[in-house]
Amino acid sequence: GLPSRVRIHEVGARDGLQNEKATVPTEVKAEFIHRLADAGLTTIEATSFVHPKWVPQLADAEQLFPRLADVKADLPVLVPNERGLERALALGATRVAVFASASESFAKANLNRTLDEALAMFEPTVARAKEAGVHVRGYLSMCFGDPWEGPVPVPQVVQVCRALLDMGCDELSLGDTIGVATAGHVRALLTALNEAGIPTQALGVHFHDTYGQALANTYAALQHGVTTVDSSAGGLGGCPFAKSATGNLATEDLVWMLQGLGIDTGVDLDRLVATSEWMADHLGRPSPSRTVRALSHK
Ligand code: HMG
Ligand code: MG
Repeated sequence: GLPSRVRIHEVGARDGLQNEKATVPTEVKAEFIHRLADAGLTTIEATSFVHPKWVPQLADAEQLFPRLADVKADLPVLVPNERGLERALALGATRVAVFASASESFAKANLNRTLDEALAMFEPTVARAKEAGVHVRGYLSMCFGDPWEGPVPVPQVVQVCRALLDMGCDELSLGDTIGVATAGHVRALLTALNEAGIPTQALGVHFHDTYGQALANTYAALQHGVTTVDSSAGGLGGCPFAKSATGNLATEDLVWMLQGLGIDTGVDLDRLVATSEWMADHLGRPSPSRTVRALSHK
């Protein structure tokens, strides 16, 4: 059976805007996040406390985060290391995410580390976050395929998931960063994770729509019992460190499917579409989301 409620983890302001060539002004980001919350999203990833030279698009994290004090939603932020965690804690963040890779190549491209070095960097970061009473999400990129290495073996993904949970992550997000997953592969990975003793409740899914499979993959995950789904308003995103990464699953496409299945999300689709259209105007190009286009106010 399918779950009666799904928690949408909205990543547009972080995963989406980190990929824009032109940096979006801080006040536009702040308005975007306020509008997402007004549309009913309850978990809105706000920004990243990474090295500003690596992701200049999010270099204003210190200026942005305090402007979100009145937002009635959880506002997780990405932290790659203890330096990032310190910056986030100094501003009162209560939810952080570290971001590992299932492949060596992407660990190198994204974090300038081998896989083991990256895990060694996260370990004290997660430990300190837990000491501070902060909720920790562990992202795992390239769970299905990698642009340099091709298909990623399931046992390799299971091993890194285990390591992230063992170091104290409260939840994981299984990323199909380049969008090559299919429903059968999703089912196989979730089954292998369960067989390794990892409960489905600890798992969220993060699909990209490169091959138009993101909703089919999500449906397979829901059938397996997953109740946390990542998506990006208007389908914003890609990844600056992975060639061939295209947009994230659009939140509007997800909400349309979930509404049709009678699954509660708390999201007002009309307000969300209006928000994505407003952002598309700001970025100067239309949203790639089919649902945004179909429900367009213009
Ligand atoms: P590095 O160059 O190896 O850094 O980068 P380092 O550890 O050698 O430190 C060098 C300098 O950077 C030092 O300063 C540090 O203090 C400083 P110095 O002593 O030379 O003056 N530094 C920092 N400054 C500010 N904030 C920090 C920080 N850390 C070190 N947090 C590093 C290593 C991890 C920092 C770098 O590679 C980095 O920031 N990477 C982040 C890249 C990123 O954000 N990628 C996008 C994430 S998206 C993703 O992973 C996929 C996901 O979206 C899922 C999906 O879509 O599938 C999650
Ligand atoms: Mg993504």
